[in-house]
Amino acid sequence: MSFITADFQGPRSHPWSRLRDFHRDPLGLFQALVRDFGHRVRFPMGAWTFYLLNDSESAGFVLSHHAKGFRKGPGLAANNPLIGRGLLTAEGELWTQERQQLAPVFRPRNISAMRPWLESAVQEVLDPTLAKSPQDLEAAMLELSLYLVLKSVFATSDLSLASVRAMGEDVRWLMHYFYHRSRTVWRFPYVFPFNRRYHRHAQHLIQRVEDITFDKRPFMTLHGHLPEDPETRRQALVTLLIAGYETTGHAMSWALYLAATHPPVEERLVAESLSETTPTPSTHPWTYAAILESLRLYPPVWLLSRTPTTAVTFSNVTFRPGDILLISPWLMHRSADHYPEPEAFRPERWLNWRPPAPYAFIPFGGGPRRCIGEDLALTEALIVVSRIVARYRLTALGAPRPSVFPGLTLQSQDGLWVTIQPRSA
Ligand code: HEM
Repeated sequence: MSFITADFQGPRSHPWSRLRDFHRDPLGLFQALVRDFGHRVRFPMGAWTFYLLNDSESAGFVLSHHAKGFRKGPGLAANNPLIGRGLLTAEGELWTQERQQLAPVFRPRNISAMRPWLESAVQEVLDPTLAKSPQDLEAAMLELSLYLVLKSVFATSDLSLASVRAMGEDVRWLMHYFYHRSRTVWRFPYVFPFNRRYHRHAQHLIQRVEDITFDKRPFMTLHGHLPEDPETRRQALVTLLIAGYETTGHAMSWALYLAATHPPVEERLVAESLSETTPTPSTHPWTYAAILESLRLYPPVWLLSRTPTTAVTFSNVTFRPGDILLISPWLMHRSADHYPEPEAFRPERWLNWRPPAPYAFIPFGGGPRRCIGEDLALTEALIVVSRIVARYRLTALGAPRPSVFPGLTLQSQDGLWVTIQPRSA
């Protein structure tokens, strides 16, 4: 049996078995729903009504044109004591204030000014990060990304790779925990003391963040741009770490892996990388295009969710508070309506940098809650990818299209294994 309104169709039966399918293979479930019911699907899952919106018009309506009518969906819930008051999950007045405070730090002009600094941070750790061969590129890029976010956002000058690794362990553990929690229907409150591992990792991370924050570093990039209240400030800082670290690390590793498995693209990137100047989209158009194309095929944030604050009517259907609206960049980016040969890695689509339609390319979301770190992430990725291809030849050991695991961010199922040879050898 299927449910039909003028625009929205969808299956009606088995809401609980669908929840099981979602837990097992969410991307497979979404693909099947869109294949069977089109780009606007309504379906019951568990105790909720879900809408999967996979066309650019609906995405634009929810993320941007009618953004005021929605709040973030469940997932990284706002009552999370580590990041709930940070920009990612805050709502209302708190969000407005934090966004206004932080926006100047992440403006393109500011990020441009950071380029030489980012370049030297990359040079400091590139060789030690890639010293082993073979190794998992994904793990290496996550480490490098954490190093860069600490350097650029926290302005931490005395940072060792060992301390970055230790911090990475805490962040990874916590993100894994949040991921499992986001999929559990019945959740114990965070404050329950029996969850010792959660409290241990959270405490470590808080301690490390406090050690490097601006009371001790008045020159920090964020100085003067954080909430006054110490608890809110701490959560705002941890949010920036968590939001900026895995996403950018995965973006860099997918771009490098895809280039390594597509020799004609790799040749273009190597040719561009011979230039000594710090890369920009204009000096390194192919490298930039390869990064955008990787973000299209493997968007680190593979799912956006919203819930209406009041009843909202769109295209003959009324979304009600409690309904959950899903927009998947992964699915949208693979729509043949927007991208010819959607499964193919073809950076040349981006040589004019233009998305095929508004809200058809949404690796950074859209509207007022669009990623604040977009320019920083793209600048970091451009420098890292360009410097690595200049110095090293990466040879993929796994499949050209490795299986993915949609955790809190989209990652490979078994790592992205490569051999690494210095080009001069
Ligand atoms: C390639 C790397 C990145 C990707 C793909 C990415 C993706 C996204 C997406 C899709 C959103 C919107 C989520 C939604 O609408 O529900 C978002 C929000 C956000 N991102 Fe990023 N991000 C990246 C890097 C960064 C970096 C480097 C930082 C900061 C250091 C950052 C900080 C944030 C914050 C604070 C938000 C919440 C913004 C708000 O709600 O006002 N991100 N990101």
